[in-house]
Amino acid sequence: SQNRLLIKNGKVVTEDDVFDEDVYIEDGIIKQMGRNLIIPGGTRVIDARGNYLLPGGIDPHTHFDFEFMGTRSVDDFYTGTKSAIAGGTTMIIDFVFPKEGESLLDAFYEYRRKADGKVCCDYSLHVCLPTWSAHVQRDMETLCKEHGVNSFKMFMAYDFMLDDGQLYSAFEQCQKLGAIAQVHAENGPVIAKNAERLLAQGITGPEGHELSRPEELEAEAVNRACVIAKQVDCPLYVVHVMSRSAAKKVAEARDDGGRVYGETLAAALGTYGARSEHECFRHSAGHVLSPPLRPDPATPDCLMTCLALDVLQLTGSDNCTFNKSQKELGIENFTKIPNGVNGVEDRMSVVWEKGVHAGIISPSRFVAVTSTNAAKIFNLYPKKGCIAVGSDADIVVWNGNAVRTISAQTHHQAVDFNIFEGMQCHGVPEYVIVSGRVCLEEGQLRVAEGHGHFVDTPVFAPYVYEPEKMAELKPTRNGPAVPAVEPLELEDDFRLM
Ligand code: URP
Ligand code: ZN
Ligand code: ZN
Ligand code: ZN
Repeated sequence: SQNRLLIKNGKVVTEDDVFDEDVYIEDGIIKQMGRNLIIPGGTRVIDARGNYLLPGGIDPHTHFDFEFMGTRSVDDFYTGTKSAIAGGTTMIIDFVFPKEGESLLDAFYEYRRKADGKVCCDYSLHVCLPTWSAHVQRDMETLCKEHGVNSFKMFMAYDFMLDDGQLYSAFEQCQKLGAIAQVHAENGPVIAKNAERLLAQGITGPEGHELSRPEELEAEAVNRACVIAKQVDCPLYVVHVMSRSAAKKVAEARDDGGRVYGETLAAALGTYGARSEHECFRHSAGHVLSPPLRPDPATPDCLMTCLALDVLQLTGSDNCTFNKSQKELGIENFTKIPNGVNGVEDRMSVVWEKGVHAGIISPSRFVAVTSTNAAKIFNLYPKKGCIAVGSDADIVVWNGNAVRTISAQTHHQAVDFNIFEGMQCHGVPEYVIVSGRVCLEEGQLRVAEGHGHFVDTPVFAPYVYEPEKMAELKPTRNGPAVPAVEPLELEDDFRLM
């Protein structure tokens, strides 16, 4: 029957183990695991044939149906979650972004309206703070206490950035509420000056994007955010760590006992910003996101090594897709190119190819950085992020040896471009099971629009500042521990490759 499923002959992967067990699912929940299970007759059986069983990917960073830079991202909550499932991701966390003058609460309701009825898998929401005020402060409390939000994103660049004092206040409020602060870390005022200078010099094309936002401006802002968060003892999550210099600042902050987590992107692991190799505007503008892809071809391996060493803890996509005509808003001025790339569909394959297939991370670490750590940091664990009795049946039967070639011709996203075009990836989902429903099998995608639910991310108990305990502070939150960081030899070549 539709609501009972047995997956046989798979290798279950958790963040610290791989074992051979069958998995029995009833009504969307994992009910039994083990060998020779006794199950009701008429249960559908899937033979995993020795493939891995992974907890479905959790993409902690998407922007579906997002009004941004004078336009709107083309993948919405339907095509976005459908593409996620096609690639082995069974949950996404998107960002509520209040429009000018709109309250956080109204923006939150609007995102619920945009997503509910469209999502093909479960989702949660982070909330961005484009301004700081007493009203914002009050709405944060309401969102945490009544609406299942536990994370807020602040910008250090763009017109809607907060200054250092405002960051301090926002971090302080997060700390009080038991929420986690997220930062877009780039030095906005210096970027604006650089852009002005480049445009005056006649550099108006997409190459100006990275030139105006070099990696030291990312590293400086990461460092500043870590320092400010430390003042008020607020846990900090650095979204889209895109460079070696920025990762190094995250490593230093974690070494100092800071509760800092770093997310890098499929884009940063799978490609790099070869500025001059792009022959046409669409191609180079298609790679524009912020912080930018770095020109150094060693950056992807460096960031993967950071994931291996637990300097960085998770991978997102930052999926925020724009078609050719939208990217052309910036044809005369690179600062007007809508920022964003794809990745929600391809993240799992890209991380497997560049991480596991390349021999840098194990299948268990793959599970940690694509699913478990996101579930832990946003307090979704163990409902999400693991294969265990009682957890949601979000499971991927993963063939680590099969190969597919990524292309905009075959992807499920609405966007007309793919930054990974032509990339061959080992790691293909054979079955994708979303809340107990088989949504992908034998190459056939059958998603159920509107069948996903909003999932509350409860706040953690507010952390109590105890100076005498600072020395033994491990970079964990109050929930289940994320593995402690291995001390890094920062004097040596950080790349370790
Ligand atoms: O370029 C990007 N990253 N676009 C999405 C918005 C953001 O800053 O995450
Ligand atoms: Zn950002
Ligand atoms: Zn081109
Ligand atoms: Zn983003």
